[in-house]
Amino acid sequence: MEQTALFTIFGGTGDLAKRKLYPSLFRLFKKGSLDYRFAVIGTARREWTDDYYREVVKESIQELNPTSDEAFAFASHFYYLSHDVNDAAHYNELRELSNTLDEKYKLKGNRLYYLAMSPQFFGTIVSHLKDQSVLTDTGFNRLVIEKPFGSDLKTATILNEQITTAFAEEDIFRIDHYLGKEMVQNIAVIRFANNIFESLWNNRYIENVQVTFAESLGVEDRGGYYENSGALRDMVQNHILQVVALLAMEVPTSFSDKSIRQEKIKVLEAIRRYDKTEVMKNFTRGQYAAGSLDDKEFIAYRDEPNVASDSNVETFVAGKFLIDNFRWSGVPFYIRTGKRMTEKGTRINIVFKQVPVNVFNFNNESDNNVQLAEQNVLTIYIQPTEGFSLMLNGKQIGQGFATEPVKLDFRQSEEITVNSPEAYEKLLLDALHGDGTNFSHWDEVRNSWEIVDRIRVAWEHFIPSFPNYTAGTMGPNEAFDLLKADGARWIWRPEQWYKQRNKLDY
Ligand code: BG6
Repeated sequence: MEQTALFTIFGGTGDLAKRKLYPSLFRLFKKGSLDYRFAVIGTARREWTDDYYREVVKESIQELNPTSDEAFAFASHFYYLSHDVNDAAHYNELRELSNTLDEKYKLKGNRLYYLAMSPQFFGTIVSHLKDQSVLTDTGFNRLVIEKPFGSDLKTATILNEQITTAFAEEDIFRIDHYLGKEMVQNIAVIRFANNIFESLWNNRYIENVQVTFAESLGVEDRGGYYENSGALRDMVQNHILQVVALLAMEVPTSFSDKSIRQEKIKVLEAIRRYDKTEVMKNFTRGQYAAGSLDDKEFIAYRDEPNVASDSNVETFVAGKFLIDNFRWSGVPFYIRTGKRMTEKGTRINIVFKQVPVNVFNFNNESDNNVQLAEQNVLTIYIQPTEGFSLMLNGKQIGQGFATEPVKLDFRQSEEITVNSPEAYEKLLLDALHGDGTNFSHWDEVRNSWEIVDRIRVAWEHFIPSFPNYTAGTMGPNEAFDLLKADGARWIWRPEQWYKQRNKLDY
């Protein structure tokens, strides 16, 4: 169905706009979700002409192989406005141009404001949009806002107060791009459409849950940003806690944004708030030292551009969340994320409890094949491959009853994965439909900061001994000890493959 709206992109010359937003809008255009009745105003400080801007837009969609007619037709909807976000007068120009385009493309006053720039300006932009009457009285006015949403609970609350003076909560779309990923959305389907899982999805059958967000890249050219963020704020406060909430929430009464968010909020409220001692026991951090993997050499975090040579910013976090409710009491949710780890991989392992009595665990001297049955593990592969697998036990062929692990494995084909809608494309369309399911509600953000602030504050009291893990590994020893202390172990160990082949030395 064709959608009608004027998009105003603050940060229209930026990397996110070029890499994600323009290609996603183009895909929507090609599919007919956007047709003639849409327009885009790109704003930033630079002095660009419409023609130059349209060339940039065309360049940004080249990978999608448009015909020249398509590229031309698409880019003709783009308009550029050089804009100083602090200058009230500039919002008058923005209002005039918006109204002209509204008239030209028959946009019915539908406006979507996308804040894709430095968060320090979010509050200013929103108050000017209201005070300079850029917002319309007819149609919708929606705000799409990129992370980070504040840098702690205090700053997030101030930002939220600023934006809610102009936009109602249901018109605020806080982006967490992981919520647009196919397999993150699939978590709810795997759980609620499969009785064999949902009926076992609790502390009677699940021993622990493991969530890994590993990245092989270092901080690249984002040292400046990362020095003020670190892995805890960059990944745990948003993406990881959102995935934990989806894994742990109760069955929503309907699949509406309201019910799902309600259930996610309840989980986040039930995550135990740790005191300092508990933080030190249950959370650990790391920073990468130089290393090599598969003949590639990597420099240490402290030697990366725009990073202080004595930086104590964490590039790795591992920890254990506990959820104090009936379903999850006693089940650890282990999480880990880091830069410069062995492989890029986001995956979830649901580790089921052993059978109550393992009848195959006998010690029969005449049978030297005897092996303990493995725990059943459901793995959800979020990226780079998408799919899920289930580890079961079968009998080894031959005499006796020795067991062996059998893996039922489903991976989406590469063709389907490549052609499936990109996260930003889905999220933009959701925002156009006014569907907040895959965005973070303020109460989710508030709870996440509450949880994460406690960890950060406890860490501030102890100077870490960084660097403490070698680039190319799966993090510091403490991350492994964390599970060992509970008699558990990380299921996903990609570093072992490299070690066995002498491709990783540490
Ligand atoms: C972003 C973080 O939110 O997510 C980055 O700021 C991180 O540091 C990125 O690299 C990972 O996203 P993806 O989609 O590449 O897994």
